[in-house]
Amino acid sequence: MITETTGVSAAVKRRSNPVWLVPAALIFISIIPVIFGSLRLAELTGGAAVTPANQRFFDSPVPVLIHIPAAIVYSLLGAFQFVPSLRRGKRGRRSWHRSAGVILIPAGLLSALSGLWMAVFYDLPPDDGVILLILRLVFGTAMAASIVLGILAIRRRDFVAHGAWMARGYAIGIAAGTQALVSIPWFVLAGPTNELSRAVLLGAAWVLNLAVAEYFIRRRVQRSTPSSRKFGSGTVLPAGAFPMRAAVYRKFGAPEVVSVGKVPQPSPGPRDVLVKVHASTVSAADYRSRSRNVPKGLGLLAAKGLGLFRPRHRVLGMDFAGVVAAVGPDVTKFHPGDEVIGMLGADFGGHAEYACLREDGNITVKPRNVGFEEAVTLVFGGLTARSFLTRADIKPGDTALINGASGAVGTAAVQLAKQLGAHVTGVSSAANAELVTSLGADRVIDYAQIDFTAEGETYDVVMDCVGNAPFERIEASLNPGGTLLLVIADLKAILRASSSTKKSGKQVIVTSKYSVDDLRHLVHLAESGQYRPVIDRTYDLDDIVEAHRFVETGRKAGNIVLQITPSPRVSPPSTA
Ligand SMILES: NC(=O)c1ccc[n+]([C@@H]2O[C@H](COP(=O)([O-])OP(=O)(O)OC[C@H]3O[C@@H](n4cnc5c(N)ncnc54)[C@H](OP(=O)(O)O)[C@@H]3O)[C@@H](O)[C@H]2O)c1
Repeated sequence: MITETTGVSAAVKRRSNPVWLVPAALIFISIIPVIFGSLRLAELTGGAAVTPANQRFFDSPVPVLIHIPAAIVYSLLGAFQFVPSLRRGKRGRRSWHRSAGVILIPAGLLSALSGLWMAVFYDLPPDDGVILLILRLVFGTAMAASIVLGILAIRRRDFVAHGAWMARGYAIGIAAGTQALVSIPWFVLAGPTNELSRAVLLGAAWVLNLAVAEYFIRRRVQRSTPSSRKFGSGTVLPAGAFPMRAAVYRKFGAPEVVSVGKVPQPSPGPRDVLVKVHASTVSAADYRSRSRNVPKGLGLLAAKGLGLFRPRHRVLGMDFAGVVAAVGPDVTKFHPGDEVIGMLGADFGGHAEYACLREDGNITVKPRNVGFEEAVTLVFGGLTARSFLTRADIKPGDTALINGASGAVGTAAVQLAKQLGAHVTGVSSAANAELVTSLGADRVIDYAQIDFTAEGETYDVVMDCVGNAPFERIEASLNPGGTLLLVIADLKAILRASSSTKKSGKQVIVTSKYSVDDLRHLVHLAESGQYRPVIDRTYDLDDIVEAHRFVETGRKAGNIVLQITPSPRVSPPSTA
């Protein structure tokens, strides 16, 4: 189930919320059937006199002897499943909610099925007409079906649907209490019931319980996904199994294969964070994945992640900046309302209204001083640049050359290398020279005028973000013990990396690993004014094709931001 707080203020509110009121009220509703059921058990097991009213139970005691204990356990124990704090397991231990569920599911099923058994095989009691019999069959079946659907939902880790179906099953299961409560005033005001009035009263109690359950199911979902919207049908759509807007592609190809459509919202698992995405970037990786334009020799390997004939991930977008909409019950680091940025990496999914990832994934609170559009630029370019640069162990005074200094990775790399104390040379077109200088580069080489490998200059670190600087071309430009960082490399370069390193004593790095510590470092730099987000253009989600077209030109300076939902103002820091 989804934790249903909405930010810091809600956390304060939650303390004063009378959370035990709900189980107390549910137990109160069940108390009359519990008492009468216990008396019936005592009657059956204690050898009481057989009367016309209890004759059927003595004739066939098995279903009633199953039904009463099962219904008592289900109604009393089930009441505690609605206490949010009991849903969270502490220090890796199984939560009360899960342990109780192991008892409640068989109890609920036994209660429903034995109820159906009695309805079908017992003689109709006095005052129970055919209408009431039909109602008993309908609601008994609905209760069993709800519990089964709840089980199926939890098996596919759909916690929202699980909670909803279990609540419906429970609402039907405790209807005997509501039936007693509605029958008492009727008896006082109108006297004993007849067949019809009894069917109407009891039926109304089932419907009332289900209506109340439905109200709370919808309220919980709306609270856990604060920005749930109304879609075409006019119904409020909760997280999980409901459509959300996304840029979708179903085949590889030109930018036009991407269109805005509806896909199911991701549903957070126990340790997952569901984020309402405000911004993502359309990156070189999105372009490569969409068009399957991957470096030479990597087609088959890429197909494993991207899909062989059809895209494996329908929604692109490696990064996101947004607001936590809901968290799984075992999540401790984030709360609904937190403003976050994160890297989905090869799982993609950022070009959609909601994205989901594990709380121990690459997600952290967004910098306080910038909006979502700026913040998201820290992720793809920033994290890639940082993850490669940390492998080069740059020290103050080292010399670093960034080839492709004006791209998403390059603009980040220039800033990060400078921040580490390197003397930075950027390679870009003349048009982007000013930008690269403004980011801290000490020198900018216009690649149209000068081949940096032919200049005779050498560097401690060369970072290639273009794909035209393999080791054979760069070797002479690297100082002894220097490092070549190939952010983009073909199969040949990858296979040769370790032998080139061994032979030359110069490191050739072709891989890097994203880490949340690096993401936090970038946030720290942005907050302290040491990192500048670089945005070339911003597109609305509806203009996704245009965004892809522009990225495909290979001419973007910095980042292309995709605005998924209008961003709220920059807000105070989260406490996560
Ligand atoms: N290994 C990984 O994990 C990883 C992660 C992220 C990205 N990548 C790859 O790394 C590459 C760079 O990514 P990115 O996001 O920075 O790409 P990008 O933003 O699309 O790079 C575009 C920039 O490249 C510049 N450029 C084009 N030709 C150039 C040349 N011959 N010399 C110097 N600069 C040139 C362009 O500048 P002008 O318009 O001025 O020419 C433009 O500013 C991509 O191929 C991407 O697929 C790999």
